[in-house]
Amino acid sequence: GRAPVIAVDGPAAAGKGTLARRLAAALGLPHLDTGLLYRAVGRRMLDRGADPRDAVLAEAEARALTEADLGRPDLRGPEVDMAASAVAAIPAVRAALLDWQRGFARGRGAVLDGRDIGTVVFPDATVKLYVDASPEERARRRLLELRARGVAADPDQVLSEVLARDAQDRNRAAAPLRPAPDAIVLDTTGLDADAAFARALAIVRERL
Ligand code: C5P
Repeated sequence: GRAPVIAVDGPAAAGKGTLARRLAAALGLPHLDTGLLYRAVGRRMLDRGADPRDAVLAEAEARALTEADLGRPDLRGPEVDMAASAVAAIPAVRAALLDWQRGFARGRGAVLDGRDIGTVVFPDATVKLYVDASPEERARRRLLELRARGVAADPDQVLSEVLARDAQDRNRAAAPLRPAPDAIVLDTTGLDADAAFARALAIVRERL
């Protein structure tokens, strides 16, 4: 049959990235972390001292994006998190990144993780997973991730940042974060990464 496209959507720090990478490896498919595209645009806006909500500049940065931007080491951290979420609310930015995401999977299939893969980018995806977890659990995971990278962070602040970014991603007009009607919701609250992966792989294999 056709090369499979697996959509992995969900809120911040739900573990989508790790899950998508492992699914891709298990299925022999390429993996694209689509959040990196928005992070790279947000990063470019911060670098030029621009307001990430500036639609004209943000669209220009999205169109100027290169492969090298996606490999930058400075795409994570609270400032880029919020800049990414701000540029992601701009329809022209999303439009500029659409062909790139579709082209990535063309002919060979892919596992893509993000917010709108199952709703907008690949409405006909072979399997749509919506990975969720309680806000407290997601904040805890983000805190561990930051600590592993040697970044000191305050738990309450991490939680409020996760909640603020989710609210912004859910309440925007353009491609708001929500499960596609035909998505399978995987709640990973209380599951470790191995257990979450085992469940996700079983769900996907059943549907390929
Ligand atoms: O997934 P990650 O946290 O890296 O994404 C950063 C931001 O990029 C999100 O908060 C969201 O605003 C935006 N994003 C999006 N659509 C995607 C992937 C990410 O709007 N498919």
